[in-house]
Amino acid sequence: MSRIVLGVAGGVAAYKAALLLRALTEAGHDVRVVPTPGALHFVGAATFEALSGHPVTTDVWSDVPEVAHVRIGQTADLVVVAPATADLLARAAAGRADDLLTATLLTAHCPVVFVPAMHTEMWLHPATQDNVATLRRRGSVVLPPAVGRLTGPDSGPGRLPEPHDVAALAQVALTAGPDALRADLAGRRVVVSAGGTREPLDPVRYLGNRSSGKQGWALARVAAARGADVTLVAANVDLPAPFGVRVVPVGTAEELRAAVLAEAPDADVVVMTAAVADFRPATVAAAKLKKKDDPAEVPEVRLVRNPDVLAELVTKRAAGQLVVGFAAETGDADGDVLAHARAKLARKGCDLLVVNDVSGGGVFGRPDNAAVVLAADGSATQVPHGSKDAVAAAVWQTVLPRLA
Ligand code: CTP
Repeated sequence: MSRIVLGVAGGVAAYKAALLLRALTEAGHDVRVVPTPGALHFVGAATFEALSGHPVTTDVWSDVPEVAHVRIGQTADLVVVAPATADLLARAAAGRADDLLTATLLTAHCPVVFVPAMHTEMWLHPATQDNVATLRRRGSVVLPPAVGRLTGPDSGPGRLPEPHDVAALAQVALTAGPDALRADLAGRRVVVSAGGTREPLDPVRYLGNRSSGKQGWALARVAAARGADVTLVAANVDLPAPFGVRVVPVGTAEELRAAVLAEAPDADVVVMTAAVADFRPATVAAAKLKKKDDPAEVPEVRLVRNPDVLAELVTKRAAGQLVVGFAAETGDADGDVLAHARAKLARKGCDLLVVNDVSGGGVFGRPDNAAVVLAADGSATQVPHGSKDAVAAAVWQTVLPRLA
């Protein structure tokens, strides 16, 4: 259990802070909410007190013998400020201590994540952009705002990302540190494939697999948090799009191949997490396959090979582009997991291969994962067991120094 301070500044998006608080406490964290006085115009202190189980104050004059304005920051493992308004970013950048939240920011030694939300004009104003640059230079994480509907009918950059995205990224900051969320993929284009393809047999049946898409979602979310322009080619995934990510839905391996090859040419990195079916039925029945009266009479399904998208990407990649594959492996009589994975890396010719050991049940649909990242140069980086977002963060840490 970690001690998280949830700072809430005075913007309409403060209502989402209650959901974020819920997500963080449900993940097992002890969360102390520190709103600004302005935030309490939008959400009452009672809501934050009930959901956090802690008293809520905004000023430094309550709880004086406890010296709360120093202690809350000093004892935190993570501070998340969501929403961070233009005013809050300005006061934090100036080092002010005119309420409990800004005082807490001055005494925190832990990672600090600002999640901005404001009108587009305020976000794009040079004053705000300078404050963001100052905070980032000092080591804080400032996430890019989501693009979309704002308070009124207008839309643009300035939306607070959805609480489940912020909670997942808070977990990354806690386990991997603020470096895992640096804004250093800005200007980079990333394509991630996720999910599992479905190969139709007839109009209602298909051959599929158990991939949930969660690992690809996490890779896309962390890349977008680091500023990348991310496209997610998603095969049959039933998850809300991560903030800032464009999702291209596909069904079959052929559709996935066409979508990935169309997106790849100007990408700096292509990551293939999708479980692409190696085989598909040779023919797709136009009508539903029916049972016959004789139970011994069953349809024979002949399979044909699907294209290997990863191998094709490698042969077509642009200069400087990195291609990352994923492999779920089990050990057997012919070799252990790493031996099979090294052989696969060599066979596919990609730059990196992220290897999951799925002996004994595996990772499908689970929120957590562990992996080894093998590189074509022979190196192997162990990724400790953690959330799929933490694995995603570790993968990006391995990819970044290799980007041209
Ligand atoms: N892959 C792909 N196209 C395929 C099959 C796999 O692009 N037809 C990609 C996956 O997205 C993944 C990597 O290749 O990044 C490894 O997938 P895996 O299924 O382990 O590879 P296979 O070549 O199918 O190996 P195996 O013979 O062990 O099934």
